[in-house]
Amino acid sequence: MKRNILITGGAGFIGSHVVRLFVNKYPDYRIVNLDKLTYAGNLANLKDIENAPNYAFVHADICDFDAMLDVFKRYNIDGVIHLAAESHVDRSIKDPFTFARTNVMGTLSLLQAARLCWTDGFEGKRFYHISTDEVYGALEFDGTLFTETTKYDPHSPYSASKASSDHFVRAYHDTYGLPTIITNCSNNYGPYQFPEKLIPLFINNIRHGKPLPVYGKGENVRDWLFVEDHARAIDIIFHNGKIAETYNIGGFNEWKNIDLIKVIIKTVDRLLGNPEGHSEHLITYVTDRAGHDLRYAIDSRKLKNELGWEPSLQFEEGIERTVRWYLDNQQWMDNITSGDYQRYYEEMYRGR
Ligand code: NAD
Ligand code: TYD
Repeated sequence: MKRNILITGGAGFIGSHVVRLFVNKYPDYRIVNLDKLTYAGNLANLKDIENAPNYAFVHADICDFDAMLDVFKRYNIDGVIHLAAESHVDRSIKDPFTFARTNVMGTLSLLQAARLCWTDGFEGKRFYHISTDEVYGALEFDGTLFTETTKYDPHSPYSASKASSDHFVRAYHDTYGLPTIITNCSNNYGPYQFPEKLIPLFINNIRHGKPLPVYGKGENVRDWLFVEDHARAIDIIFHNGKIAETYNIGGFNEWKNIDLIKVIIKTVDRLLGNPEGHSEHLITYVTDRAGHDLRYAIDSRKLKNELGWEPSLQFEEGIERTVRWYLDNQQWMDNITSGDYQRYYEEMYRGR
């Protein structure tokens, strides 16, 4: 194999798109997907490539340092794309310890394993850490954007844990010379997203005629990027990004939550053959999220100017594809909401 790449969190939402892209595009790379399969990890996300000859799955926790050393040695890993994380802000408010453990200690365990296992020098090696725009804090409604030099100002336990992991990644470059790259991306949407996040949750609730819980007044703004565009950016940056650099990735696609929710309702109703406005009564304003960041918006011009990446999909097309995918893959959604995929995993990996 030309390269042996470790992708962590490959059974999750974004990770599964990255694994699929790399397995299909690079038959001469071995792609090792390492995932703990928490509630958010789902091997059904990778059914189409699970038997590919250049794909291997390792069931492990990134916090298990000995297991990380073992994987680096067993597969002769020369590149890491690190996505494994606890990723949902609401869960981080309830259970911050799990976020510190996985996002901080887990990242540290991988960094240390890379440092100790790359004994023949760092030439040709790469440790690519996937982070979030949430580390920059919150913007006002003033048109400003997060750039790569925006000061870190995390507000939630989730963003604090991601910020901390970013600092460790930079420290490993500055202290040990580890060849690291960090990217901070805006909100992703698309197929295979766990239905606790806004878009899949609301599509599923509309399908079942259930209330749509809008936090606060629905005025918060997010910058939405189609997940396949993120995966494409990760491919370009993994191969051509400059060591020790940070790149912001975003869609230049800001939406106020309530406006986005109305687009989702309209699209789902149309595709289900309901009259326009049919599901609008499901909108239910609920108590705001604690510390709810007002606005995120990314300036991704550095990535465009230096590496030529920009979003390929118009939002209207992306949201149409996304809604269609969830409506066409109701079994996937039902399996998650009924817990069946845990059983699928247990059956599939029993005795391995
Ligand atoms: P996700 O929650 O869908 O998937 C996370 C994956 O990591 C799951 O497969 C889970 O099983 C695995 N995992 C969790 N803890 C683990 C551990 N201790 N050891 C090994 N595997 C573990 O998350 P996502 O939305 O795909 O996000 C992936 C990465 O991208 C995260 O690092 C997240 O911070 C970052 N990110 C996400 C977004 C977004 O909008 N979803 C935006 C920017 C950055
Ligand atoms: P989410 O998908 O959780 O992503 P993030 O918190 O990382 O931005 O939420 C997107 C936005 O939607 C955020 O402003 C919170 C809001 N939201 C709701 O209003 N209701 C919900 O049920 C959820 C899950 C999110």
